[in-house]
Amino acid sequence: MNDKQLVALHAAKHVKHDMLVGLGTGSTANYFIEELARLAREEHLKLTTVASSTISAQKAQSLNLPIVALEHISSIDLYVDGADEITPDKTLLKGRGSDLVKEKLLAKAARQFIAVADASKLVTHIGENFAIPIEVIPFAWQLAKKSLDQIGAVGGLRPNAAKDGYWVTSHGSYVLDMKFAENTDAKELNALINNIPGVVEHGIFHNLADIVLIARDGRVTEQ
Ligand code: 5RP
Repeated sequence: MNDKQLVALHAAKHVKHDMLVGLGTGSTANYFIEELARLAREEHLKLTTVASSTISAQKAQSLNLPIVALEHISSIDLYVDGADEITPDKTLLKGRGSDLVKEKLLAKAARQFIAVADASKLVTHIGENFAIPIEVIPFAWQLAKKSLDQIGAVGGLRPNAAKDGYWVTSHGSYVLDMKFAENTDAKELNALINNIPGVVEHGIFHNLADIVLIARDGRVTEQ
């Protein structure tokens, strides 16, 4: 068993009967979805799920997990998702995929949000390994980028996979991948980016994760 699978299985121990559980997106979240399906099948665990992406919804459906649409919920019991970076104060960077908006909505709606990752995701500051993904309304991208330039960010629109156009998220936004100075505080950055017109959402998840579980060499620890 690899570390991503191990940490996902550990998080699944927090799932109790009759919970409404949010499903994250990515390879670690996939292991969690598979474990939920096993628990439902083999241990008759009753639960309902809500997905942060079409791909996670399809996976849950293919495994016969009951699923409700995001627009039908006002809160959830538990959300489990991976991350691209995790700092010692449990701030996360997410959004290498296309589903940042739903991921943050579920993280906020959850009574408990457990972030799960292997140790490769641990960093000292947000932005250490990746640019910050910032979803923008397509017609606003130049004006939003100008505001970001003014606060010292460097970067541009994320290209699509074929490199013949721009990446479009599941929400229909463009993504600006922006680098900030190393010493920029994530809490301050969160507030600054939230304040820019045209920004739909961004990848800094500050003050949202309740528990961070990290697997390293076959052992899981809580941060
Ligand atoms: C998607 C995410 C993922 O949770 C993040 O990229 C981690 O993915 P993985 O579990 O495959 O390493 O934020 O938007």
